[in-house]
Amino acid sequence: MRNVTEANLTDAVLAEVAGAPDARLKQVMTSLIRHLHTFIREVELTEAEWFAGIQFLTATGQKCDEKRQEFILLSDTLGASMLVDAINHRAPARATESTVFGPFYRPGAPELPNGANLVADLPGDPTLFSGRVLTVDGTPIPGALIDTWQADAEGFYDVQRPTLNAMRLRGKFHTDVQGRFWFWTVKPTEYPVPTDGPVGQMLLKLGRHPYRPAHIHTIVSAPGYEPVTTHVFVEGDPYLDSDAVFGVKESLVVDFVRHQPGTAPDGTKMDRPYFTVNYDFGLKAAA
Ligand code: BEZ
Ligand code: FE
Repeated sequence: MRNVTEANLTDAVLAEVAGAPDARLKQVMTSLIRHLHTFIREVELTEAEWFAGIQFLTATGQKCDEKRQEFILLSDTLGASMLVDAINHRAPARATESTVFGPFYRPGAPELPNGANLVADLPGDPTLFSGRVLTVDGTPIPGALIDTWQADAEGFYDVQRPTLNAMRLRGKFHTDVQGRFWFWTVKPTEYPVPTDGPVGQMLLKLGRHPYRPAHIHTIVSAPGYEPVTTHVFVEGDPYLDSDAVFGVKESLVVDFVRHQPGTAPDGTKMDRPYFTVNYDFGLKAAA
């Protein structure tokens, strides 16, 4: 097309996409182009702003490597990840709600027996995490898998400790015949998402803080059920209402109960104060 103008440019680009053989790709790209052009018109983007945007996206890509995914962090902090999650996981009542996956999952965590301690010699408040995995009707699911990972009591994941080459605070547990699981960990703390890259700069410029409220990640799965990727959040955390990645759902916020030294519910003798947290996960049947 010749004589492209401000008025007809969007139609000119859309006409080029109209013949795309993949119908879904055509639908997605048509909508993306339309919204991109609407955005540029709405804010009357200057050339300097356009170039700043190009530089920002370039820096975002350059920050990515096998341990760092700055584009996912961008998606998370703009609420895109949680919107995709919400659309794709409309959970029925009593199915555990999903939340953001985050960049710190590592496959291959050790398979451990119930009651195992993930803590080794780490500082922090010992915490017994227990619960059940149930169907949406409340029937226990034996043999369900709880794949868990979390930051330490200083707010760092193992992959963020440059000198640490081993996995830490990660494990896989299976529910027993009554659908129960339990393990020892440390009480998590709030922590900032990585701020040493372009997304951190963006948060700063927008006057936003980078903190996530304290949480423990889990992927809960069982044959014949939809797996759920979720967190358990600590009730009372100061960032529950301003999570930098918009991941908090009320149903996932749980009391971590403090106890004096004594015998914990799993029979462990504790010579210092400890916490317990109990959460029943609900899985819906696979479609
Ligand atoms: C996390 O919870 O591990 C996380 C999620 C999104 C961005 C950064 C960290
Ligand atoms: Fe996390």
